[in-house]
Amino acid sequence: MAGASKLTLSVFTADIGGFVGHISSHPEVLDTAKERLYNSREKGLIEDFHVLRCGDDIEMIVTHRNGVNDRETHELVWNTLQACREESAGLKLYAAEQGLSREAFTGSLRGMGPGAAEMEFIERTSEPVVILMSNKAAIGSWNLPLYKIFADPFNTSGLILDPIMLEGFSFKVLARGEGREIVLSAPKEAHYLLALIGSTGKYIVNTIFRNSDCDISAVISSSKFRVKGGTAMEESTPVAIFRCQAGFPATGEVMEALSFPHLVEGWMRNSHNGPLMPVPFYEANPTRFDGPPRVIAAGFQITNGRLIGPHDMFDDPAFDGARRLAGEVTEYLRRHGPFQPHLSSRPEYSAVPFIMEKLKERFKKI
Ligand code: F6R
Ligand code: MG
Repeated sequence: MAGASKLTLSVFTADIGGFVGHISSHPEVLDTAKERLYNSREKGLIEDFHVLRCGDDIEMIVTHRNGVNDRETHELVWNTLQACREESAGLKLYAAEQGLSREAFTGSLRGMGPGAAEMEFIERTSEPVVILMSNKAAIGSWNLPLYKIFADPFNTSGLILDPIMLEGFSFKVLARGEGREIVLSAPKEAHYLLALIGSTGKYIVNTIFRNSDCDISAVISSSKFRVKGGTAMEESTPVAIFRCQAGFPATGEVMEALSFPHLVEGWMRNSHNGPLMPVPFYEANPTRFDGPPRVIAAGFQITNGRLIGPHDMFDDPAFDGARRLAGEVTEYLRRHGPFQPHLSSRPEYSAVPFIMEKLKERFKKI
């Protein structure tokens, strides 16, 4: 348990059934989550909550005093998601069974299906936060904007204009599949950092700390899993939480990094590369070729644990250009059909093993 003065901000994300196909979420499922979390707030188990969704992923934003990876909080969210799954199954929404493990809850949501981004901090005099939530985008998708936000003065003027930020930020980077992590500090080790995190499938930026006092600045969600044909597969849709202003990047500096719709892995069948399109909440429905990948941004002021918001941060015509560019890039990439580099070099789906089995006798030695 954390000290009473510390607040925990947790964002949980799960796919518990698509409407229609893998495109969007059904309002009745969202209502189920709201009802459950409302009851938890009434009982004093959590401070506040907000339920959003991006594409077919539901996002539960929760404030509480229990610390990160807390058993009771995770159990409460697990039970909420079970109720959502029941609602979803009743409506026969698509793939309602994929997003949550069938195993019994044993203390943490990690490895059970949902993704979780959690940070603990002492609430400042004023605590503005921005939460980015994506759909059809792989977990390494935040590496590029994170570098821009916390290490590139061409994006974040505060890195050279705000004395607190002059010393830069440290990036905790996970080496995927190796069970290892490393902390690299920018600007001093910016080249080492870039040399790793440019490989977005291999190295994943996970947490950012401010160098001047080690205060937490940003966290990225853990991998989310879905089960298909008895196999757990890493699923797209990461979220990222940012504390903003007064010694952290301004909200506008976080948002600025998303004005370039960079290419990410994910999209159709988690097997394609495409531009990450920044959209207001109501446009987070990736219908063209199940995409292109989307990102929404929710801004909150956190006030004594209350979530004041959300403000729909991409509801701004200044992002129309990014959306248009993402549309043009979509048009260009789609013309490649089943060819790389539109087709990802690590497609989740592949019929090749099946085809190789069928054709094995016909391959001749040369
Ligand atoms: C990608 C995604 C969708 C599905 C696609 C095929 O994350 O959710 O693009 O992969 O619609 O879905 P299935 O295999 O369920 O028919
Ligand atoms: Mg889905």
